[in-house]
Amino acid sequence: MRLAVWDPDEPFRRWRDALMQHAKETGLAIDVIDACAEPEAQAEFALVWRPDADWLAGQMGLRAVFNLGAGVDAIAPQLHRLHPGVPLIRLEDAGMGRQMADYVAEGVLHAYRRMPDYAEQQAQQRWEALPLAPRASFTVGFLGLGQMGAAAARRVAAMDFPIHACTRSGQAAAAADLKCPLHALDRLDDFLAQTRVLVVLLPLTADTHGLLDYAVLSRLPQGAHLINASRGAVIDQADLLDLLQSGHIASALLDVFATEPLPAADPLWRHPRVRVTPHVAAQTLVGPSAAQIVRKIAAIERGERPGGVVDMRLGY
Ligand code: GLV
Repeated sequence: MRLAVWDPDEPFRRWRDALMQHAKETGLAIDVIDACAEPEAQAEFALVWRPDADWLAGQMGLRAVFNLGAGVDAIAPQLHRLHPGVPLIRLEDAGMGRQMADYVAEGVLHAYRRMPDYAEQQAQQRWEALPLAPRASFTVGFLGLGQMGAAAARRVAAMDFPIHACTRSGQAAAAADLKCPLHALDRLDDFLAQTRVLVVLLPLTADTHGLLDYAVLSRLPQGAHLINASRGAVIDQADLLDLLQSGHIASALLDVFATEPLPAADPLWRHPRVRVTPHVAAQTLVGPSAAQIVRKIAAIERGERPGGVVDMRLGY
């Protein structure tokens, strides 16, 4: 069978070699083609990251599309419109959970140990020890508890911080093992009021676009911290800046932005209480991702439904 890979960010041969190796081990006969170089070729399975819409529209024999990342916002509506019924399958962890846990753990400790305040003191050559909040009062709130949120929440809980979470439905299949208070999105205000560090790991959908605006973020207690490692457009960036300016939000660690790369003129680049990273919190790892995709193709070939199929009504 033929697999087409559309990933402008990664040398094609890395995907081809990894896919061929895992297919051989699994006993699958596959032919892997570079869709960016051979856009006319037709394939049964597509592995894509932000694919060209014309190319996607021209693929007439697709049996399934694999998204080469955890977030499917860039492809889900497009695929649903062009090829309704073709399943979209996202990566499930595939080495990204541990990266996300590292990123969030660093952000939580940075906030807890008052590094934003010490950075300010250093700029003024001020030598002054600041009091630490009792750890038990420093509640970390996870907004979104899918694969990425659950991995990060497990790590932060293991670091002995109190955690709680808020999800669309008030449930979290990926975090069934985490015994933490769970709020549904309609109780967002209560959740925010009890949160000292807000970790945003929500998928970007029609419901979450611009969800965190001035009014909503103001529900956080004075001096709360924010970490966003999901999608930039979940937060109204201008409102966030206002809340940083007033000190209501004490610091932000931002990996994702409404426009990427973050434009040079954006004041977030220069804000002393903002740390910017270039969408690297959890990067797709070719080896584990190729292994997972080959396993899922083998499952489809056996007539089974693989994990990670996107619910098009929900958009994630
Ligand atoms: C990265 O942002 C991803 O969705 O995997």
